[in-house]
Amino acid sequence: MKKKLTFLSVVGARPNFMKVAPIDRAFRKYENVNHLILHTGQHYDKNMSKIFFEDLELPQPSEYLGIGSGTHAEQTAKVMIEFEKIIDKVKPDLVIVVGDVNSTVACTLVSVKKGIPVAHIEAGLRSFDRTMPEEINRIVTDSISDFLFVTEKSGIDNLKKEGIADNKIYFVGNVMIDSLKYHLEKSENSKIVSDLNLEKQKYILVTLHRPSNVDDENILKQIAKMFSDLPIGYKIVFPVHPRTKKMFEEYNLTNHLNLNDRIKLTEPIGYLDFLSLMKNAKMVITDSGGIQEETTYLQIPCITMRKNTERPITIEVGTNILCGNDFEMIKTEAEKIAGGKNKLGNIPELWDGNAANRIAEILYNKF
Ligand code: UD1
Repeated sequence: MKKKLTFLSVVGARPNFMKVAPIDRAFRKYENVNHLILHTGQHYDKNMSKIFFEDLELPQPSEYLGIGSGTHAEQTAKVMIEFEKIIDKVKPDLVIVVGDVNSTVACTLVSVKKGIPVAHIEAGLRSFDRTMPEEINRIVTDSISDFLFVTEKSGIDNLKKEGIADNKIYFVGNVMIDSLKYHLEKSENSKIVSDLNLEKQKYILVTLHRPSNVDDENILKQIAKMFSDLPIGYKIVFPVHPRTKKMFEEYNLTNHLNLNDRIKLTEPIGYLDFLSLMKNAKMVITDSGGIQEETTYLQIPCITMRKNTERPITIEVGTNILCGNDFEMIKTEAEKIAGGKNKLGNIPELWDGNAANRIAEILYNKF
């Protein structure tokens, strides 16, 4: 009989919640695993955090660090200081981290130095762009973690090239797609499309929050202008991330956007409503990592406003097209999609809704 195991999963920012929810469900099947959730509080607004716990049926975190915003150094350092105290109190057998946010790297560093093994879910993704904070977080986290769970085969190659031993790498599929599949039916009950006065297939969904797009005044102004160039006959719905909202206000763009009656700016939207918005959109324009994957699974055309992606499978197999800040290219690709001339994607290998079960089984058998 195995001893009782304590596994501690870390969430911090919006894209983490949908990755840990299926992990939590998978561990419920193991009687002698006590799966705990710790929230660093990197994201703290109701619509960036609490609503996701409700929508995803995620249990309340047993620990909350209340870190909030700050510079990268401040945020990372604060998480490290507070997380160390939790490790001393909870004494987990394993720490599980997901994705690439500052909370991911901070908790990994603390755990490893305390001698606690770390499992990194969504390991091996590389944009090869070290100006992205997430790329640094990914490289550091992967280099010191013990179990590396990979969503797509490029991740295996990247890790091997960085000298990671084969026996640490597991190709298991995508936990974000586990959540999507699990909640898709429930999202059919969402009224968001009609509440926003939209018609299915008659709108373009936009999300932008990366510093490379929203922190630069010149680019942000061009983005604001870009909306007028998108195919006519489509409304534009744009849930605005707090960082983007701040920059729109700083550069006096909010009023300009509100004057365009095709554009609907909204607060950040909950998980189920957002699934519904994605599924019924004609196309999505984004700079998010997760949305590139979700649109690939839903087979909705996706224009990514980044020069690179750490998720190349979404281009090779899925519906994703990289346009960076080439506004002519965005216009041309959007017109192609509106005219039904877009590429049709397929669903990547192992994106089948069972990644978390595979991960739980592997980890359980290791202890
Ligand atoms: C973080 C992640 C990014 C992820 C994104 C998803 C890092 C380095 N970046 O970026 O990888 O794609 O989350 O959203 O970890 N703010 C609020 N309320 C909140 C959260 C943030 O108002 O609940 C505001 C604050 O003013 C803050 C700014 O948004 O300064 C940015 O938040 P932060 O956590 O620093 O990074 P994100 O841009 O959200």
